[in-house]
This record gives sequence, structure tokens and C-alpha cells, in this order.
Amino acid sequence: MPRFTVRNAVIAVNILLLTALFVHLKNELWDKHSPTADLGGPSHIPDELLDDYQTAATSHVDSGKTLKVNSGVESRRTAVVVASQASENATWLHQYFPDWEKNIYRVDDANAPLTVPKNKGRESMVYLTYIIDHYDALPDNVLFIHPNRYQWHNDDPDYDGLPMLRHFQIPYLEKEGYVNIRCAWPLGCPNEIKPLEEAGEHREAVHAGGDYKMAFQQLFPGVKVPESVGVSCCAQFAATREKIRERKKSDYIRYRDWIVETKLDDSISGRVLEYSWHMIFGKKPVHCPSAKECYCKVFGLCKLDCGDAGSCEGRYTLPRYSSLPVGWPFIGWEGEDRQRAAPEE
Ligand SMILES: *[C@@H]1O[C@H](CO)[C@@H](O)[C@H](O)[C@H]1NC(C)=O
Repeated sequence: MPRFTVRNAVIAVNILLLTALFVHLKNELWDKHSPTADLGGPSHIPDELLDDYQTAATSHVDSGKTLKVNSGVESRRTAVVVASQASENATWLHQYFPDWEKNIYRVDDANAPLTVPKNKGRESMVYLTYIIDHYDALPDNVLFIHPNRYQWHNDDPDYDGLPMLRHFQIPYLEKEGYVNIRCAWPLGCPNEIKPLEEAGEHREAVHAGGDYKMAFQQLFPGVKVPESVGVSCCAQFAATREKIRERKKSDYIRYRDWIVETKLDDSISGRVLEYSWHMIFGKKPVHCPSAKECYCKVFGLCKLDCGDAGSCEGRYTLPRYSSLPVGWPFIGWEGEDRQRAAPEE
């Protein structure tokens, strides 16, 4: 038995320290280079991820560099901005588009999580408020839409927004910058508004032509008033961050100030913006691609039979009334049972 002496105690402590150092070095320099060495390791990780694991496991070697896992697979942010009233229902967007960021504004509820400074100008107030408030941190793609799943103007044989949005081609949007989410020409194309012919006219809820000319001069100072303006109706469209930011934030503030201050009825001021978005985002005053080209590029529907420039077989027909029957699409216009005209997919 060695006696307990100071000398022996110092030797024992040194042996312990050296053992600890050895274990530490083995762990740092050997084990971490060999991902299968430990039982908790990545034996269950599929091969394609193994490289990433190894990169991560050895990253202490050059910890000064940013680690790039999944390099090349960038996730793109897509948001929907919805101009809703308290009576409307946008829950289907949560159900079917879980990956999209939802911005559901309630224009007529001051206590809603998202609302507008003033309920004026219909959906345009919502769209502009969103752009102004998010100008410096916009997602990659923004879809500006109305809340209800079934709406008379949705470009679908059942007026169903679900297949419409499912088919919407985000890569085409990213190429174009701005895309109208509707192809059928009635209403809006080929030249809904003739600002010069109708100058001075004020017809509530009809063309807005005369009011449009005056409004255009205020919204786009220094730009020549176009002879005709056309875009497929109803103010549902998408834009990329880059396209939105081609205009200064102060432009969007000016448009919103115009809405707040105008004495025009909402039906007219909303309509002025409805027929301005495409120009705000860089398109010509008449932006009416043929329905055939549009359905193919915007919705990926490239095999349609299209008789004329403005419509394709089996796609969109103007409904009888703007309110769909309760129970649509399974109850028809006369209260009769109805089958869907096209799948939800
Ligand atoms: C909204 O629609 C969903 C179906 O998408 C339905 O389950 C829900 O009850 C509706 N909410 C209201 C308040 O009507």
C-alpha cells in the first residue's frame, strides 16, 4: 500500500488531469470526425442528409464561417393579404394553404388583430395598408385576395377560390413581378374604362370613367391619362417584393391618402384602384393577355379550347347574380341539387 504523501497525491491528480485531457482530445479530434461512432449518431439519417450532418459535425474546425446546411434550397415566403368584412370567412385559407402567411384584415372591426385606419375604398385600403406597414420586410410573394372561398368573380367553373389558388403559378409570378389572378375577359377587358370619352361623367358604380380621369391625374401626377384602361376585373392579383419596391413607399402613402381624402363613393374610389394596380406594378394601361395564354401561364392550364381571345371552354361564365346561392356549389341557382363542374384539385 503506498502511503499517503503529498508527492503521491500530486502524482494522482496529474494522472487524473492527463486522463481527462486524453478523453477530451479523443472526443474532439477523433470521434466527431466519424459520425457513425456513437450510438446516438445519424444511422437513421437518409444518405442525402448525411453530408449536411458531417458538415455540421466537423464545423468546429472552422467555426468562424457561417454553416450552410441545405445550401441551394432557399425557402420562399408567400403571403396572402385578405380584405375581409366581419361577415366573411377566410378560414379555408388556413386549412388548405398552411405554408402561406395569412394577413386577414377586418375592415369593419376596429378591434380585429389586423384592421385599417379608415374603412374606405374597399379592398384597396387593406392592400395599401399592408404594403405601407410591411414595406421594409415584405415576403417574396404577396397574393392580394378577397376572403370567401366561393365568389362570383373567382376564375373557376364553380367560382371556387381553392382550385384557382392551387393552380396559381408562383414561378410565373416570380418571373413577371405582377400577375392578375384572373384570365376571363368579362368584366374588365379589353377596355373597361375610357377616361377621356367619359370625362366629366359620374355614374355611380358603372364605369367610373370621368372620375377616373381626375383620379388618375391625382394618383399619377405627370403621367399622360390613357385613352383606355383594361384589366380583368375584381382586384385579386399577386406581386413580388421586388415589384412592389420598384415604387417608393411614399407613392403607396399618397394613394392611400387619396382614398382617405376623396369625396367619391367607395364604389368609385375602390374601382379606380382596381383599374390601377396593374399600372402601379408596371403593366401597360390595357393589360389583357389572351385567355389561352393567360390560363396557361397563370394557372398552368395549357390544353384549353379557347374560341375567342377572352374565354376558354369550360372555365368561366359570368354568373346570373353576384351573390351565389346559399349551399353553392351543391345547390344551384333555382335551389336545385347541383354537382361541381370541376374538381377541387
Ligand atoms: C368558416 O368556414 C369553415 C369552412 O371552411 C367552417 O367550418 C366555419 O364554421 C365557418 N365559420 C363561420 C363563422 O361561418
